[in-house]
Amino acid sequence: MNMNFKMPTTLITGLGCVGRSSANLAALGSACLIVTGASSAKRSGALADMETALKKENIRYELYDKTEQNPTVLTCLEAGEKARAAGADFIVGIGGGSPLDAAKAAAVFAANPGMSERELFSGEWKNSPLPVAAVGTTAGTGSEVTQVSVLTTSDGLKKSIRDDRLFPALSLGDPAYTATMPVSFTLSTAADAMAHCVESYFNRLANDISRTFAVRGVSLLADTFKKILKGGADSLGFDEREALYNASIYGGLAISVTGTAFPHAVGYFLSERHNVPHGTACAVFLPLFIRHNIKCEPEQAKEFFLKTGISGDELISLVEAVTPKCDVSVTEKDLRELAPRWTDNASIKKSFGVFSPEFTTDAIRQLFKKD
Ligand SMILES: [Fe+2]
Repeated sequence: MNMNFKMPTTLITGLGCVGRSSANLAALGSACLIVTGASSAKRSGALADMETALKKENIRYELYDKTEQNPTVLTCLEAGEKARAAGADFIVGIGGGSPLDAAKAAAVFAANPGMSERELFSGEWKNSPLPVAAVGTTAGTGSEVTQVSVLTTSDGLKKSIRDDRLFPALSLGDPAYTATMPVSFTLSTAADAMAHCVESYFNRLANDISRTFAVRGVSLLADTFKKILKGGADSLGFDEREALYNASIYGGLAISVTGTAFPHAVGYFLSERHNVPHGTACAVFLPLFIRHNIKCEPEQAKEFFLKTGISGDELISLVEAVTPKCDVSVTEKDLRELAPRWTDNASIKKSFGVFSPEFTTDAIRQLFKKD
């Protein structure tokens, strides 16, 4: 098993790390555009800390705070054009997965005037994207350390761009920024991190490095889930926030090698058609994925549970306990419309065993068919 690994991002973590990183930001240029969503960057204090850090080095900045959940290509184009008009040398993304992914795509648009949506997804970029500095305010996405940006196309479909030029140049991870998230949201975003780790471990592209990250991520998540489920909101202090944040980074590092697998591939339609938050949309398929691997890859599963210190049943129970109820109803017509997606799906093919289109359709039917 190989150890191939590439991660050109400078990662700095810990309490107050944004304030200590002015020189790292200055190394990226003298003007930037800050890309955020509507509220979490402000509420968490991350935006104020970033503004202070930029002012310290006399870095000019403008703010684009219109990133929506599941950002569209159009939003990224708008942000990219704003960055170009502002003469930005780099982009700062602050938020959960949506603003961070939007910041990466805005960096491509900013450097490539007139680029089409097709060219964005095909990687036909004349110029390299502007450098990106990423500041996470949720613990789940791992986008801070990946070369992936997931966007909603003009057809309303979620589609990912995976390109080494999208690795952030700088990633600043202060777990304190996640403290304003309510417990239920904290757990559902952390379920995304759990999905990243499990889907990366049971993945045909896994190697020794990615599996080491995945195991560490699962151990941290499982221990912290147990504490929070037992103790409630009071048990969610800085140490637990830090454990969840670090786990999300481990998940990001793991999928930077492997990409995701069956649960993410199937979960996208729940966000596209039913507005289900990303973490929940993937985590609902995780118990099925874990059972599938226990059955078809018993030796690998045995090693995984030995290394993570948790049993299969326990892991499934924890995932079910932290995943919010997904009140979605899917009809036979929906299933027929979705069916072509399950053939030749690259992420599904990376999963072990066989996930036939019929199996996938049946799995969705069992979870969401109401009549
Ligand atoms: Fe994810």
